[in-house]
Amino acid sequence: MGAMPEEIESLLPLLTNRTERSIGGRIYYAGELHGKNIVMAFSRWGKVAAASTATTMLQAYGITDLLFTGVAGAIDANLKTGDIVIAEKLIQHDLDARPIMAQHEIPLLGKTWIETDPVWRARLTHSVNQVINQKILNSLVGEAALKNFDIHSPGLYTGEIASGDQFFRSKEQKLALQQLLPHILCVEMEGAAVAQVCYENDLRFAVVRTISDASDEKSVIDFPAFINKIASHYTVAILDHLFRQDW
Ligand code: ADE
Repeated sequence: MGAMPEEIESLLPLLTNRTERSIGGRIYYAGELHGKNIVMAFSRWGKVAAASTATTMLQAYGITDLLFTGVAGAIDANLKTGDIVIAEKLIQHDLDARPIMAQHEIPLLGKTWIETDPVWRARLTHSVNQVINQKILNSLVGEAALKNFDIHSPGLYTGEIASGDQFFRSKEQKLALQQLLPHILCVEMEGAAVAQVCYENDLRFAVVRTISDASDEKSVIDFPAFINKIASHYTVAILDHLFRQDW
């Protein structure tokens, strides 16, 4: 699992029989989450950092499945702060080796999109729906904080996510991505890189993101505020329900 420091800190109390190890500047926490063996770490930000963390999890811990959690900026006009996106497939929006190959095509793989595992998507859908329907965030985050961020009833979307080494902070950036890839739901900086590592190593994987900002001029303020106050509650609620399931 990869996540942000705030998410890791909130998840640690749920981890039993915990051990930790420092490799390449990251701390990897291994243990059991509701009786299932896991290892989790803050991936750090950006494609290279996240790919490196995923590779270490594979080589040092022999993981077979990888779950990436975090936040994302909205691209689709329907998405609001506090909505949840489960990735169906991911693309590196900043990968461009034209004219040698098509725009966004991953060199040597002959692929542009990488699909997530349908079984993990179904499990995540189930747990996110439980979190939303049981209004679990209302008590975890608090009604006042939800109101502050204008979150009423979070929506769940499944679809395309774009990743790249850019923080989206303007309407122009957002529009340019929409014109190039019209079905993208949200943008972040790691998912498609981790997807490539998982694809190349036959790992089952999934990506779940909470919308923290609108990928526009307000993002510089909204993104850090959401991470400080809200994001980790979403991750804890979703993973807690996910790992309570029988699978
Ligand atoms: N993750 C969360 N918000 C983002 C944004 N605006 N751009 C890129 N990644 C993000």
